[in-house]
Amino acid sequence: MKKGKPSFSAEVMAFYRAAESAKPEAERLYYDPLARAFLRMPLRLLAGSRMLAGLTIWFLTERWIPGGVGVVLARSRYIDDCLKGCLAEGVGQLVILGAGYDSRAYRSDILSRDVKVFEVDHPATQRAKIRRLIDSLGYLPRHVAYTPVNLMEEPPGKRLIEKGYERSLKTLFICEGVSYYLSAKAMDGVLSFVAESSAPGSSLVFDYFVQMTADEARKAKMSHWRLERMARSARLSGEPVLFRMQPLAVEGFLAQRGFELKTNLAAQDLKSIYFTGKNEKRQVSPHLAVAHATVRGPTRDGVGSCCS
Ligand SMILES: C[S@@+](CC[C@H](N)C(=O)[O-])C[C@H]1O[C@@H](n2cnc3c(N)ncnc32)[C@H](O)[C@@H]1O
Repeated sequence: MKKGKPSFSAEVMAFYRAAESAKPEAERLYYDPLARAFLRMPLRLLAGSRMLAGLTIWFLTERWIPGGVGVVLARSRYIDDCLKGCLAEGVGQLVILGAGYDSRAYRSDILSRDVKVFEVDHPATQRAKIRRLIDSLGYLPRHVAYTPVNLMEEPPGKRLIEKGYERSLKTLFICEGVSYYLSAKAMDGVLSFVAESSAPGSSLVFDYFVQMTADEARKAKMSHWRLERMARSARLSGEPVLFRMQPLAVEGFLAQRGFELKTNLAAQDLKSIYFTGKNEKRQVSPHLAVAHATVRGPTRDGVGSCCS
């Protein structure tokens, strides 16, 4: 991230959600009524017009990565469903890592205020979010603990515990749109905190950037040079892609770190779950995939996973 500046990619994600939410119900893949309030002008204005939002999305994303927006919206849908499943199974605590302008904590259609939420984010992005929340809601809700952490410098554990994180509560950790901006060491810091400091039945849902050879990219109908160009342009905005995984290696990678993989969904899998009706023909880019894994431990026998 650019020094002292909030994440640009976080605002772009909120823009995609805001633009999608402005569509009629039967046409949208995702609905986030708060996304627009997080945007600065002129993105806020653009998000309110279907035509201008469509042009912006084409210019920013779709001409480089066809289906780039589709896959991001589909992963958010999956993560919402995962969260709802986990809440129904008694998750009492939610930790959102790299929260950006995630609005789940503020939406009663998703979460009741009995659940304590920890939003962990880079201090610069979190400061911007807090300002925008105060502007739009007029206050900061008490059930959310804002936990500024630069995950490249330290794992989240110490700060979470200072903010009241309870190891004894079954917890869902959401890490959406973040893993690829972290180094392998930083990612290990996150995973070892989750594996070592969460209650039985806790789990982690995250998406990852798919490591593809030129040949695999061709088979997935993805232009390899476009993919690399996207990774390079992310570097220009101060958010280089640092971490990728091969889908077949995910299970072993997580097992070595104390997790049991429950689901590992490619973009096409997400498309077949969520892209119905008017959205059937929308594309998804194969460069992202989503995994859900439960924390494995000596006393975890019989503890089910909530959203797989
Ligand atoms: C693409 S945005 C995703 C935001 C949000 N999760 C979403 O899906 O809309 C990436 C997020 O990762 C956060 N991030 C990037 N590098 C980070 C770091 N070193 N420490 C903490 N957070 C970081 C950014 O601040 C930003 O909120």
